Amino acid sequence: MSQESVNPRSTLSLSILSGKGGVGKTNLTLNLAYALYRANHKMLVMDFDVGLANVDVLLGISPEKTLQDLLRPGVTPRDVVAEVEPGGFDFLPAASGVPELLELDEDMRDQVFDKLNDVLGEYDYLLFDLGAGIGKTVLSLASMTRMRILVATPEPTSLTDCYAVIKVLNASHGVRDFQLVVNQASSAKEAQTTFERLNAACRRFLDLDIGYLGCVHTDPNVPDAVRRQVPLIKHAPRCRASQDILSLAIKIGRHRAENKALLMDKPILKKITAA
Ligand SMILES: Nc1ncnc2c1ncn2[C@@H]1O[C@H](COP(=O)(O)OP(=O)(O)O)[C@@H](O)[C@H]1O
Ligand SMILES: [Mg+2]
Repeated sequence: MSQESVNPRSTLSLSILSGKGGVGKTNLTLNLAYALYRANHKMLVMDFDVGLANVDVLLGISPEKTLQDLLRPGVTPRDVVAEVEPGGFDFLPAASGVPELLELDEDMRDQVFDKLNDVLGEYDYLLFDLGAGIGKTVLSLASMTRMRILVATPEPTSLTDCYAVIKVLNASHGVRDFQLVVNQASSAKEAQTTFERLNAACRRFLDLDIGYLGCVHTDPNVPDAVRRQVPLIKHAPRCRASQDILSLAIKIGRHRAENKALLMDKPILKKITAA
């Protein structure tokens, strides 16, 4: 038995969000999860892009039950959580194309997390794949997690929308702690410049600094893996984008290791009093 499984776990909750849609959140979420799973961490990916859920599509699986089923009496987390890979890569699907569920209201959110409470501590990481933009569900879920990864591309529109998310989360929930991943970068230099532009705006107008986690290059293997419905890192482990995501996973792993003691004292998900 490994040391890790004897000690109490300190779960790192992490949300992945963006201003604009289609910037690569779901691919990043899934592949970070896969990379960390391969490094022997227990992962739970939760699809909170309610309405446009597609983690299942990228995995090529058709879930029997979804997040919304958890709201029904008698349904337990174990009925809903699907195993993606044996022994440590689990997935909680969301229903797609159900307009009335586009926004999880506070009651529903609390019910979902009350039910999940018993199982969350079994994981090393909880990854929330959130929808784009500044909807209420996105904002409240992003403010609950211990770490937030913003995904942006170098396009100016993606960057301004990303700034809007930071601004609104800061104003509505007092969140000041963000990490940026620049996706679909043509070079590390372009990505660094993108980060610096965004950070300069945050510093000037919001008096905060964001962290820079790194970049993922534009890589034709990404759309190829999407078409094949296999995580990129499994499909093309040596390609540029896979290598980039592995580096990001190592950084996140380091962050969790360095903050382990700290994480153990705090709730896995912050309770929201005012949404
Ligand atoms: N690094 C990349 N290189 C090339 N194409 C990418 C990359 N990241 C994402 N894409 C393309 O963007 C599409 C949208 O990605 P997705 O993860 O679904 O975005 P989101 O979840 O933010 O809406 C993917 O299907 C893929 O074709
Ligand atoms: Mg998505």
